[in-house]
Amino acid sequence: MTDIATVGAFRLGDRTVKRIGYGAMQLAGPGVFGPPSDRDAALAVLREAIASGVNHIDTSDFYGPHVTNALIREALHPYPVDLVIVTKVGAVRGEDASWNPAMAPADLVRAVHDNLRNLGVDVLDVVNLRLMGRVHEPGEGSIEEPFTALAELQRQGLIRHLGVSNATSAQVAQARGIAEVVCVQNHYNLVQRADDALIGELADLGIAYVPFFPLGGFTPLQSSILSDVATQLGATPMQIALAWLLHRARNILLIPGTSSVSHLRENLAAAGLSLSNEVLARLNTIETESAR
Ligand SMILES: NC(=O)c1ccc[n+]([C@@H]2O[C@H](COP(=O)([O-])OP(=O)(O)OC[C@H]3O[C@@H](n4cnc5c(N)ncnc54)[C@H](OP(=O)(O)O)[C@@H]3O)[C@@H](O)[C@H]2O)c1
Repeated sequence: MTDIATVGAFRLGDRTVKRIGYGAMQLAGPGVFGPPSDRDAALAVLREAIASGVNHIDTSDFYGPHVTNALIREALHPYPVDLVIVTKVGAVRGEDASWNPAMAPADLVRAVHDNLRNLGVDVLDVVNLRLMGRVHEPGEGSIEEPFTALAELQRQGLIRHLGVSNATSAQVAQARGIAEVVCVQNHYNLVQRADDALIGELADLGIAYVPFFPLGGFTPLQSSILSDVATQLGATPMQIALAWLLHRARNILLIPGTSSVSHLRENLAAAGLSLSNEVLARLNTIETESAR
C-alpha cells in the first residue's frame, strides 16, 4: 500500500494535513440527495480512508442534506486527533433536490449549528463560505455580509478557521480583509484551469488551494492523452489526473470523491506516481485540446 505521506503535507489553519484527503459528497444518494443505497459500504469508505492515513475530509451538511455528516459521525466519531473536517455553508437543498443560495446571516448561523450538531463537535475545524456564483464557476459580487457573519461565528468560538469556495480572486481578497482565509475550494482539474494564476497567488500567501471536481466530478475526465499517459506509466487515468494536480503546485490539497473502497485505494495510490517534465508537458496540452 502506498504511504500517502510521501507526497508531503500543507498547512490548513493551525494544522498540517497530508496532501491527499477525501471528499465525502459521493456518499449521499443519487444526485447528492437522500441516503446511500448501501449504508455499510459508505461507512466502510470513510473508515478505510482514515485507516489509510487520510487526515483531511471535505463535507457539507447540504450533501443529503445532513446524510454525509451523519455518516462521518457514525463511522469516525470520536474523531482521530489529527483529523481536519472541512465543511461548507451557503446553500440549502429544496425538496426537489435543488441547490438554493442561503447566504443571509440567519441562514449561516443555522447552517453552522446544523453542522456542529450533525458532526457531533463543539467547534468546526474549517468552514468554507460556498458562493453560488454561476453554479460551479464563480461570479463577481460582494461577499461582505455573509463572510462578516461567519467571522462573527468564528469570534464566538464555533469555527476554528474560514475559507471560501467558488470564489474569484477579488472575493478572496475581500474575504481576507474581513478575517483570515486558510483555504480556497474552486473547480479545477486538467481541463478546467481558470485558476492557474490564483493558485500561485495563494501559494505565495501560504493559503491552501483545494480543487473540487479533481476527476471531473459529474462528468469524469476523458482524454486520449490522459489515457495514453496512463497506459505508458501503468496507472489509471484517474491516478494520472490526481498525480498531475499534486505536481501542479505545492499548496494543492486533494479531496477526490468516491463511494467505493477500491476507487479510494486507487486514488490514494496516486501518491506513488512521479511524473517527468516531459509527461507533465504532455498533460498540460489537454486543456487546449479540450477547448477545440
Ligand atoms: N465546493 C464545492 O462547490 C464543491 C462542489 C463539488 C464537490 N465538492 C467537494 O469536492 C469533492 C470531490 O468532488 P467530486 O466527488 O464531486 O468529484 P471528483 O472527485 O472529481 O469525481 C468523483 C467521481 O469520480 C468517480 N471516481 C472516483 N474515483 C474514481 C476512480 N479511481 N476510478 C473511476 N472513477 C472514480 C466517482 O464515482 P465512484 O463513487 O463510483 O467512485 C465519482 O463519480 C467532493 O466529494 C466534495 O467534497 C465541493
